[in-house]
Amino acid sequence: MNNILTDNLDYNRPIKIAEDVYWVGFNDPERGLHCNPYLILEGQEAILIDGGSRPEFSRVMMKIMQTGVEPSRISTLIYHHYDPDLCGSLPNLEDIIDRRDLRIISQHENNVFIRYYAVRSEMLCIKRMGYAMTFASGRRLRFIPTPYSHAQGAFMTLDEKTGILFSSDIFGSFHVENARWNLFQEFSQSCQHCTQALHHGQHCTTTNIHCELASIIAFHREIMTSNAALRYAIQQIRALKPRMIAPQHGSVFYRAQDINIVIERLLALDDVGIDGFLQQERRNLESI
Ligand SMILES: [Fe+2]
Ligand SMILES: [Fe+2]
Repeated sequence: MNNILTDNLDYNRPIKIAEDVYWVGFNDPERGLHCNPYLILEGQEAILIDGGSRPEFSRVMMKIMQTGVEPSRISTLIYHHYDPDLCGSLPNLEDIIDRRDLRIISQHENNVFIRYYAVRSEMLCIKRMGYAMTFASGRRLRFIPTPYSHAQGAFMTLDEKTGILFSSDIFGSFHVENARWNLFQEFSQSCQHCTQALHHGQHCTTTNIHCELASIIAFHREIMTSNAALRYAIQQIRALKPRMIAPQHGSVFYRAQDINIVIERLLALDDVGIDGFLQQERRNLESI
């Protein structure tokens, strides 16, 4: 995995991010978000994670089929929360998978809303599953709740076999126009010691190129609900010590030092969601 950034990855194809785990998204420079669905294969079973939006359906399905997986092999869809960027193609997936035993895994707080995507499959709640599911082979996926980051029922999935944490919106980022996007993110040595207050679209003062850390921070400030909710989620990640973090937006992190940089920066934020809004409102009042 050491030369992953220099491997000249073909984003028109599915990308294998670990044994039997594929990124099945696509490079989308025009939208402000890259959406990252992932496919986990185990024996005859296939699981699709955060399958994507309605407009992305055909491209995601093409990627899945390029891995050699027929749609009917997909037995389970995992949705980490209920936003349209990950759930919008659910009716299309149900149609093409066409299995009576297709199941949807989420949390019951999400399932209330996921039903509105005209769902006909069985819907399971991670709480009732004991926060884990086991493949026929014994491979286990663990589900870790991250309440209010950003949905009430949001959670992450840890694949114990590969050590990949599918973190949904956490560790995500906005895409900056004209900035080069990489599926795998590495930070330079100087990022480790950077103490600047970073803002969306900012260039790095050392390299003068787009600062990805700034986009990650901006994303969490805007999308997450509060300091407390984000800190709770990040503390879960820190305790899990995942080998790789695969978010639903932005890039995949595969080096411990990069994961730690993001963890430390996000833990230090004090203006997330409603806390940032109230902070700004106080400032506005003081300046009158
Ligand atoms: Fe979301
Ligand atoms: Fe999202």
